[in-house]
Amino acid sequence: MSGRILASEQLMSFSSIIDTALTQQRELLYAPDQRKSDKPLRPFSVREVSHALKVKYNSLRQYLNTLEGMPAGTLESGNRKYFTAEEIAEIQAVLHREGKIGDERFPRRNPGDAQARLVVYNLKGGVSKTSLSVNLAQFLALRGYRILAVDLDPQASFSDMFDIQADLDGQASIYDVLRYADPASGEGPIPITDAIQATYVPNIDIVPGSMSMTEFEYETSASFRAGDGTPFHRRIADALEQVDGYYDLVLFDTPPHMSFAVIAAVFAATGMLIPLSAGMLDVVSLAKFLELAASTMQVVEQHQDKRYDFIRFVLTRYSASDPAQLQLSSFLRTHLGGAMLKHDFVSSTAIADAGNTMNPLLELDPGSFHRKTYDRIFDSLSGIADEVDSEIMRAWGRKPFEREDN
Ligand SMILES: Nc1ncnc2c1ncn2[C@@H]1O[C@H](COP(=O)(O)OP(=O)(O)OP(=O)(O)O)[C@@H](O)[C@H]1O
Ligand SMILES: [Mg+2]
Repeated sequence: MSGRILASEQLMSFSSIIDTALTQQRELLYAPDQRKSDKPLRPFSVREVSHALKVKYNSLRQYLNTLEGMPAGTLESGNRKYFTAEEIAEIQAVLHREGKIGDERFPRRNPGDAQARLVVYNLKGGVSKTSLSVNLAQFLALRGYRILAVDLDPQASFSDMFDIQADLDGQASIYDVLRYADPASGEGPIPITDAIQATYVPNIDIVPGSMSMTEFEYETSASFRAGDGTPFHRRIADALEQVDGYYDLVLFDTPPHMSFAVIAAVFAATGMLIPLSAGMLDVVSLAKFLELAASTMQVVEQHQDKRYDFIRFVLTRYSASDPAQLQLSSFLRTHLGGAMLKHDFVSSTAIADAGNTMNPLLELDPGSFHRKTYDRIFDSLSGIADEVDSEIMRAWGRKPFEREDN
């Protein structure tokens, strides 16, 4: 038997090899001022600002020159003006104050508007949940939504994309917020405000993910026997109460497996976005996923008369030049109709590469792409952001703003 493998030992040694290697790489990568979170988001051109704020380019140029309180911006190459994300927010505030844009283009909650809470949900792995969540968060943040992202995946890729690594840096995570009190040590959950971290993207804060979310699952099972604490399904919704006034949108990135944390997010949410990748196997598993999701909702609905504002599907990693995908896309659109977003998240090596280097689209330099490639991905993500934006506006009783061509 001696030649055979003792799996625990072998796996543990692989784990420590990778761990050590990663730590070394991290030290290189994240020497002082080398972490990507040390740098601000890139500045944006007037054309980009006009797109984000849904104001016509020529009107915006005029407003920038004539309205009081507009930020100066910075002159860059070619004598063009650029504005930071903070300055875009200032411009938007001036336009709103001066009556140039109404509430349908100013995504701040008014008294009585419920916090929008969007769960990006599909139990299938690798369907772009995280890539979509990160890019959507950045597009919506630039449009003025104050966003809290909650990373429920123990793999914490969403947090990684913002260079937040709670486990490695010894910071509080969503686990510390949701955990149960430990009668032995007296340790208990912390307020969500103690786990929230600002990011280098104005308007986006994060409650980081953590490996220890797997413990939440065990503790939840144990809590059924002990019958103690707030029931698991209420734990996210309850924690969010404390920050209800601070954010317009809460976004949940979820892991690709059923868990108590996912059910709690589904319970807290007001809207659901289901990313689907355009493969036959994905479509076959879709019906099963939806059945499971429906029974999860039944559990949730038993506790409360729970209503969603919207549930939408979005096709991801979509390549219209692939005939098989084109066929699947039309199949889905025929059968799911208006429940499918009109815009697809296009497949692109730039996004796949972005996954490796951890850069969402808005963090990449448009100049480093073929114009057409950049525009194709931009239009795809911006279109998805517009549609989600419209759903939230509808939920707040506002008539969504229809973009005209600039
Ligand atoms: N539009 C896209 N075009 C090309 N590659 C993509 C696209 N979206 C995601 N990817 C790549 O596919 C892989 C899976 O994406 P992502 O991590 O976003 O999926 P996920 O659903 O969050 O996965 P998981 O289920 O593991 O959480 C990543 O390597 C990512 O870079
Ligand atoms: Mg993910």
